[in-house]
Amino acid sequence: MTDLVRVALIGAGRAGLVHGRNFSTGVPGARLVAIADPVAEARQRVAAELGCRRTLADPLDAATDDGVDAVVVASPTFTHAAVAVAALQAGKHVLCEKPLASSLEEAERIQAAADGSSGTLMMGFMRRFDAGFARVAERIAAGDVGDPVFVRSTGRGPGLPPEWANDPRRSAGLIAEVNSHDLDTVRWLSTREFERVYAAGRAAKRPDLAARYPGFVDLVAVTCELSEGGLAQVDGACPADYGYDARVEVYGTEGVVMAGDPRAGTALLVRADGAVADPVRSWRELFADAYRAEDAHLVRVARGEEAPRAGVGDGVAALRAALAVNRSLREGQPVQVTG
Ligand SMILES: NC(=O)c1ccc[n+]([C@@H]2O[C@H](COP(=O)([O-])OP(=O)(O)OC[C@H]3O[C@@H](n4cnc5c(N)ncnc54)[C@H](O)[C@@H]3O)[C@@H](O)[C@H]2O)c1
Repeated sequence: MTDLVRVALIGAGRAGLVHGRNFSTGVPGARLVAIADPVAEARQRVAAELGCRRTLADPLDAATDDGVDAVVVASPTFTHAAVAVAALQAGKHVLCEKPLASSLEEAERIQAAADGSSGTLMMGFMRRFDAGFARVAERIAAGDVGDPVFVRSTGRGPGLPPEWANDPRRSAGLIAEVNSHDLDTVRWLSTREFERVYAAGRAAKRPDLAARYPGFVDLVAVTCELSEGGLAQVDGACPADYGYDARVEVYGTEGVVMAGDPRAGTALLVRADGAVADPVRSWRELFADAYRAEDAHLVRVARGEEAPRAGVGDGVAALRAALAVNRSLREGQPVQVTG
């Protein structure tokens, strides 16, 4: 590997553009060298914006290219396994967007490839890089709330994701597309594993999508039993319309610690006719610094300077929990999360 970590972006859509902008402007030690997307318009538009000269139609060519050290997998969830496995087998480092895959079989193939690779896979769980969430983790590690026996985590997206993501067979559903972050947050902050989940869901705003895609829900509430007697509640909604909303509260035996605020900044306007705060419009805005820190972490992981903050095992664990939630939604029963 040269001094610079040469990064290929796989998937020039919503998430890809966030990482692409970071790597083309603001991540020391990295250079964006290629953009791969089977849709010519997407790869050319993003390459033009980012000033990247090399574009490829076949993501596997980028994932195995000799001139690439690390790949960012930001393609649709059902394509992650093919790209990540090829990249790992070619010894590349991988930043894989969440969820790790759309099925456990795919996730286990990625894990096996990571285990046999000189490259390392890190998960795109950007909340681990957010100052507020990281402070909560520090407080817990310092013992400030005692034993963190309960986590409540809320994740709501403003607008519907791309069409493929409304189909649970391709995205693993709302709980994976929006709430993978919450499932990871629960494990991270409780320092416990999922044991059993009981979920209820509704197509409260978009029954038309439930008719088109079996298993579609736009509102979900999950009660979770964790190892060592822990409990958690995760709720998700999308489209929430009012903005992006990511909040966590960790109750411990000696206190409570929380992070996340759906208001952008702290300005609150109060007038005789009411009080107004600006909502956070999107995940790009709320977690802009976290995505930059995550991308900078990829450089240090690729150089062997740091172990991934969230690795392939964390991706598998969050997906296992998400798939158990989907089964609970189907069966109307609590489901054991086997691992
Ligand atoms: N961490 C986050 O906050 C976050 C936010 C949004 C999306 N995501 C995740 O990022 C991934 C992409 O989501 P998105 O919303 O950007 O999707 P998107 O549909 O906006 O973009 C996906 C892009 O990948 C391209 N593509 C299609 N098939 C491909 C293939 N086989 N190989 C490579 N590229 C292919 C598409 O042409 C499109 O340009 C998903 O896994 C999603 O869950 C994560």
